[in-house]
Formats: sequence, C-alpha cells, structure tokens
Amino acid sequence: MASDLLSPAEIPTVGDLYRQKRLQHYHSQVEPSKTLNGIISFIRNDITKLKVDCIVNAANSSLLGGGGVDGAIHRAAGESLLAECAALDGCDPGDAKITSAYELPCKKVIHTVGPIYMHEDSPDQTLRSCYRRSLEVAVENSMKSIAFAAISTGVYRYPSDEAAEIASEETRKFLDMPVNNGKLERVIFCNFVEKDMESYEWKIPQFFPPTPEELGQTNGTST
Ligand code: APR
Repeated sequence: MASDLLSPAEIPTVGDLYRQKRLQHYHSQVEPSKTLNGIISFIRNDITKLKVDCIVNAANSSLLGGGGVDGAIHRAAGESLLAECAALDGCDPGDAKITSAYELPCKKVIHTVGPIYMHEDSPDQTLRSCYRRSLEVAVENSMKSIAFAAISTGVYRYPSDEAAEIASEETRKFLDMPVNNGKLERVIFCNFVEKDMESYEWKIPQFFPPTPEELGQTNGTST
C-alpha cells in the first residue's frame, strides 16, 4: 500500500529534532556540525517501507536469506532478489555487497554480514567494518540516501548500546572524511524495536551534537 511508504523528506533530521526540542543532548567532545545534523536521521520503522536509494540488510554469509530483517527484505523484494544473491557467492562478515531491490520501494539493497557477538574475539571490529563498507559501497554506486537496519542486534545478539555507538561513530568518521563531502544527502538509522531506538537516542547526540543555533542559543552561523 503506497500510503505506508516513507521518503527522506518525511523523516526529520537530527537538526530538526534539536530545533523541535525532541532530542535530549548530553555533553560531547565531538565538534557540532549543522551540515552533518542535516544528513543524519534515526527512526523506528519497517525498513522495507522506505523510499530511499538503498537499504542495508543484516544478512548472513550465505546471502541466501533468513529471518529478521533479512527475511522481511526478501519477502518484500520477491524471488528475484534471492536469485541475484545466490549468484554472489556469499559475503564475508564485515563486508558488503549490493543488489537490485526488485519489488521494494528503494532502488538497491546493500547486504552486509554482522558479527555473531559471542562467536568473535573482536566483534566490534567486524561491526565497524559493516558500517564502513556499506557506506563505501553506497558512495561507489552513487547512492544519495541510505537506511541501515540495526546490524547484529537481533539474532546475532549484539548489545544495542554498543552497536549504536559503533554505528554512530563509524558514520561520523566516514562523513568527516573530505573525500566524502557532499556524497551522501541522508543517512537513516532505521530501528524496528524500542531497545535499539533508545540506544540511538543516547548515542546519536554523542557523535552528532547540536549546534548553538539548533538549540536556539544564537542565530550565528555555524558549519
Ligand atoms: N525493518 C527494520 N529492522 C528490522 C526489521 C524490519 N522489517 N525486522 C527486524 N529488524 C531489526 C531487528 O529488530 C534488529 O534490530 O533488524 C535488526 C537486526 O536483527 P536480525 O534481523 O535478527 O539480524 P542480525 O541480528 O544481524 O542477525 C542476522 O539473522 O535473519 C537472520 O539471515 C539473518 O542469519 C542472519 C542473522
């Protein structure tokens, strides 16, 4: 049903949330950026309903589908997605591969394989790589808007707070790189359950703090 689809224009940015006093902020060592606060969003929604350029699937290394968001994406995309995935010869944990989106409202699907939290010595490094590689693949394919599911925080049991911190920090590092200036117009963290939403409400302000202007403290200019 077209009415339950959501486009970036209908999703508030972090800057909007600060200006509307809908997002608490905490002391942060990170430099506030009006530009970046206009790119980042986080919501609680079904990722298969987003009309963005690409969505990021929490897949497994076979790329042959599964439960959770992987199952939802394959059900919504249709069988052609599985056929294309089957030809990709799998995906290593921490890596990301792109396919068409078929019946989904987005244009492409980026499949990344997160760490199984209790099975890896350094799951944080693998999860950091998932976000970094997904962003790289999106930019390589001229994607302007990208929506992430909360990678590994379901069946793979990654603690939500730690995962949200990694996602926020890696995205900030990527967007801060001069070579990536202007490459992405919107990065949306699309949560499905409350525990992940609460984690992003805590971690996003740490890596994307408000500018004085967004807090209504000055009408000065800021980057
Ligand atoms: N839209 C957005 N997010 C969703 C949706 C949806 N429709 N359905 C589930 N999620 C969220 C979950 O709430 C969780 O926060 O996706 C996040 C990732 O959870 P899983 O889908 O369980 O993925 P993950 O923990 O990375 O485990 C991957 O699960 O489904 C299998 O094939 C997959 O083997 C792989 C494993």
